[in-house]
Formats: sequence, C-alpha cells, structure tokens
Amino acid sequence: MYDWGDKRMSNTPAGIASIGIQLPPLFMPVTQLAKLRGVDPNKYTKGLGCKDIALCPDGHDAVSLAVGAAKRALSRWDRPLEDIGLIALGTESAKDMSRPLSAWVAEELGLVGAVRSYEVKHACYGGTLALRQALEWNWSGASAGKAALVIASDVALYSRRDPGEPTQGAGAVAMIIDEPEVASVSATSFPFSSPAFDFWRPVGDSFPSVDGQLSLDCYRNAVSECFGALIGDRDARSVLSEYGAMCFHVPFPKMVKKAVLHFGEQLGWSAQEAERLYREKVEDTLEWNQLTGNAYTASLWISVARALVGLREGTRITAFSYGSGYGAELLELTAGPAAASAQWVSDVEQDLDAREPVDMGGYETLRGHARASA
Ligand code: COA
Repeated sequence: MYDWGDKRMSNTPAGIASIGIQLPPLFMPVTQLAKLRGVDPNKYTKGLGCKDIALCPDGHDAVSLAVGAAKRALSRWDRPLEDIGLIALGTESAKDMSRPLSAWVAEELGLVGAVRSYEVKHACYGGTLALRQALEWNWSGASAGKAALVIASDVALYSRRDPGEPTQGAGAVAMIIDEPEVASVSATSFPFSSPAFDFWRPVGDSFPSVDGQLSLDCYRNAVSECFGALIGDRDARSVLSEYGAMCFHVPFPKMVKKAVLHFGEQLGWSAQEAERLYREKVEDTLEWNQLTGNAYTASLWISVARALVGLREGTRITAFSYGSGYGAELLELTAGPAAASAQWVSDVEQDLDAREPVDMGGYETLRGHARASA
C-alpha cells in the first residue's frame, strides 16, 4: 500500500480538474473481422465480449489522438496554458526510443518553457503511472501551484490473424491534474508487480508478442492481490458495497468479467453473487470500451470517464490498472461537482457519430500500411 496521506505538503487537494477524450475516425465491427478470418462471430462477441475495433487511417496516430484529447481537456479548464508545469504521456505506441512522445504533443499545443515533459512506459499501466506521478508531484509541493497535463494515448494493433486481432482498438484520454472538480484521487493506492513475459514488443518489432493465457493469469492474479490489499481483514461485501462503480483496464471485456468472477470465487462467494457484483458495479463501465476496443493505456481511463458520468458528488469508485510485464495498481476516486454534467460525454458522442465503418477490403488495405508505432 502507498499512502501519501500524512506526507502531503501542498495545501490544495489535487485531483482531476478536467477530462478530454479523442477517438479515431474509423471503426470495424468485430463481426466483419470474424467474416474476414472465417471465425464464428460469437467467438469475438460472446467469447471475448468485443463489439467494435476503433481504427486510425493514415495520418492519425497516438500523437494526433493525444493532441485532440489534450485540446478538449484544456478547453474545459479555466486557467491559461502557461499554468501547466508538467506534461506526462503514458503510451506503448512510442515513435522513438529517445525522444518522448510528449515532445510531439507539447509542440502541437505550444507548451514550452518551464515545463517538465516526458513519456511513461509500462505497457497499459503507463497512463496511470503518469497520473500518480502528477498527483504526487502536486502533493509533494514541487508543483508550486502549477497544474499537470496527463495523457494516456495508444493505437493497439496486433499482427494479422493474431488471436489478439479482435481486441484491437485506439483512443486517448487527457486529464488535467489540479483542483478536483471532476474527481479527487485518494492518496492511498494498492500496487502489485511480479515480472513476467505475458506481452512484450522487442525493439524493432512492429507488433507485440503475447502469451494470451499467461496474460489472463497475470491479470487475474493482480486483481486478486490489489483488491485483497484494499479489503485487508475487513468484510469484502461491506468494503465493495461502498463503491458506486468498479473500473478496470479492459484488454477485452470478457477478461474483466473473468477476473471479477475469479476474485469472487477466491472470496468464497457463489458464482451468482460474483455475477451480481459484475452486473451492478462493472458492466456499465465497459460501454465505451466495447466501442473503442483495447486502447492500452487509455482503456482504464475510458472506463473511468464512463463511470463518472452523472455520478453524485462524493460517490467513490475504484480504478484497477494493469500493465503487462507486469505491474498493477488499484486507485480510489471520489466524484467531484463536475461529474454530474460530465462535459467529456460530448467528445465521445461526437467522435462516435462522425466515425466511418471500414469494410473487409478497407481493413486489409489499412493493415497493409500499418505499423503499431505509426
Ligand atoms: N461461440 C462463443 N464463444 C466462443 C466460440 C463460439 N463459437 N468460440 C470460442 N469461444 C470462447 C471460448 O470458449 C473462450 O471463452 P472462455 O475463455 O470463457 O472459455 C473465448 O471465446 C476465447 O476463445 P479462445 O479459444 O480462448 O481464443 P484464442 O485463444 O483465439 O484467443 C486470447 C483468446 C485472449 C488469448 C486472445 O484474444 C489474446 O491474446 N488477446 C490479447 C490478450 C491481451 O490483451 N493481453 C494483455 C493483457 S493486458
């Protein structure tokens, strides 16, 4: 457990002041991909719980997604750009082994000067680490009144015919760390890590290598460890009943459900009771993830953004972050006054309305040009 509770030096209770989301302009229903690959579509829809794959055409990438999300988050924040003292970008879609992706984004935003700018890499956990660092920078007093711009942005592509292909996706979530208008984040969090080769992309490889079954086991284990630490020796039912929603990193929706059911089993619950927990606290948070596919670092934050919509101020939620390799962390957020109006909903609605479907031929052409890092 990490607890910054009695070490905070800043007087301001930092949290998420504003959220902006950017989704790509193309998508393909997984039923189309199933047809293309000669697979029963139920495997993708029922077996994996997927619906659509968000896709980037040429000229769109993790940078353009991050810039779009950041502009939207900044437009909902009432301080000038000069008040940003840190930009941290969590991604596994790096363009370069040295130059951070944040440099491309900062350039587009005109964010120069006394600004700490860097990229954070830890597979899908990078965005959450960037958020924690920004919060802890604030709590330490080092921010000296400045705010942070945290972005999670990724384009998730597997090689063609890889078992992970139906779980592909893309998207970016930007969050300004300042006054907790949207949500405050609890100083206490529950990390867990255990080195593994469940998902990796060697230098020079365009697409990741995945040990799918091992990644399921690692993820499930991390859920049990992190929630076990949250619950401690208290009664699990009463602890979990305190939360309005439980958000998870979403490699594909069924993985989340499997992990929740597995945790229920470990608690000695009946399958029906664990199913009920999933239905009541988790299922709705996956609505946008089913339409974007896996957006790696952004996946958890897409789910959190969905869960915060319309939440009454003071309602608490959990956010479980997982990154292959592997590392995980469970956070607790409390809805602030701006959750009720949830202005970021318009980002999602606008992008979903405007995006265009890609057919089987279009997908194959697109993949002909694609590199994971593009
Ligand atoms: N109708 C309904 N369900 C079907 C089906 C059909 N016709 N055919 C298969 N299924 C079900 C399977 O029973 C299985 O469900 P279960 O696990 O509940 O038993 C599910 O669909 C997947 O089938 P499986 O044969 O296990 O798929 P796969 O081996 O081709 O690929 C993964 C599954 C998860 C390994 C693959 O999608 C993957 O690698 N995904 C990426 C993993 C990832 O993102 N890891 C990173 C973790 S952060």
